[in-house]
Amino acid sequence: MRISVVGCGYLGAVHAASMAELGHEVVGVDVDRSRTAALNAARAPFFEPGFEELLASALASGRLRFSTDIADARDAVVHFVCVGTPQKRGEYAADLRYVEAAVESLLEVLDPGDLVVGKSTVPVGTAARLADIVSGKVPGAMLAWNPEFLREGFAVQDTLHPDRLVYGLPNSADADTARARLDEVYAAIVAAGTPQVVTDYATAEMVKTAANSFLATKISFINAMAELCEATGADVKLLADAIGYDDRIGRKFLNAGLGFGGGCLPKDIRAFMARAGELGADQALTFLREVDNINMRRRIRMVELAREVCDGSLLGKRVAVLGAAFKPDSDDIRDSPALNVAAQLQLQGAVVRVTDPAAIDNSRRLWPQLDYADTPEEAAERADAVLVSTEWTQYRELDPVAFGRVVKQKRVLDGRNALDRDAWETAGWTYRALGRRAG
Ligand code: UDX
Repeated sequence: MRISVVGCGYLGAVHAASMAELGHEVVGVDVDRSRTAALNAARAPFFEPGFEELLASALASGRLRFSTDIADARDAVVHFVCVGTPQKRGEYAADLRYVEAAVESLLEVLDPGDLVVGKSTVPVGTAARLADIVSGKVPGAMLAWNPEFLREGFAVQDTLHPDRLVYGLPNSADADTARARLDEVYAAIVAAGTPQVVTDYATAEMVKTAANSFLATKISFINAMAELCEATGADVKLLADAIGYDDRIGRKFLNAGLGFGGGCLPKDIRAFMARAGELGADQALTFLREVDNINMRRRIRMVELAREVCDGSLLGKRVAVLGAAFKPDSDDIRDSPALNVAAQLQLQGAVVRVTDPAAIDNSRRLWPQLDYADTPEEAAERADAVLVSTEWTQYRELDPVAFGRVVKQKRVLDGRNALDRDAWETAGWTYRALGRRAG
């Protein structure tokens, strides 16, 4: 099948290469010429395990290319919209200008019978509005909403082997045709027995925001428990293990620490609240405001904890920050709790050095006020405290004995509850973590 993918950022680039891998003829279209040039040269414009290999194999098959010219999408019969929906500046709502521009540009190349498939995360109601625009301009063209659930660090796996396929279909005779077309696109995934949820636009749109809201709530729930653990001397990690054994609760997404960041969870819960307000249903989501507040409080608490271990003052103290990315196996620093805390520490007078295995270039560009080091050892040289802010395997596996020789004071702040506490304490370190009592 001939497919176009409009928007070749993180989602679109992975989707385009994955669709080619599934055997389709794919053109990825993006307005950014340097991005399409890199992709055509098999260079990933972002860090994502397994993506560059997938890209190289898809390009070598001759079934994938990238272009800046929307006219190259003319031959395609299915057109995926994979552009971003960032938070509007100074508001909670999502900025839909890129989605609208993508659909607008597709109108020039659509033929009757073509299917436009939205994958971007959008406020509920968007698909119905866009469907009217599509069928109004090109009678016989259809629109479906097919949210993605990929996680950074697992994007290739999540795209080729998703947990479920969700199709939001038009409320018309086109529904069967659109469904059959999507089944053909995902034939290999459908054949693998992947569960399918076939529904209307609004439900499909809400599945994505509801899923992300649930995940954010789960993280903030355990971080709220961490606050209580700090007040009572209880241990949040053991608490999470114990409640997680109940398979109605489950242990996943119960890791207390610096909380959630990134390009999805924070902006998605805010956009969801904004949309609920527009729909007159804001009361239903007021709890998400608290989810957001709990999350942001963890960052402030970490700075307090750093001050506490540094004998009550951060002024002139050297603090090594291990991790800049919002999560491991990613170079994404959007709304990164790690950089937020690093900047707060610096504002309070600490001499901060940040390191990260993948996100240093992005950090240098967007946070030039911070100092960077290439290795944890360099970052921690003569440090008064070390903060592990992103749980990269490299940092989990640091040898506390050898690492102890680099620093001035053996004080470690485990911002992600990721270290082997016993090993660090045995090596003579003062260990502190959110939601766990001091040793
Ligand atoms: C998320 C959703 O998981 C994914 O399904 C959706 O498509 C996009 O948004 P992602 O942003 O890649 O994916 O990251 P995720 O793995 O969900 O982590 C989000 C944040 O929560 C990270 O900052 C992570 O460190 C934090 N987190 C996660 C915790 O603090 N504790 C946990 O237990 C889990």
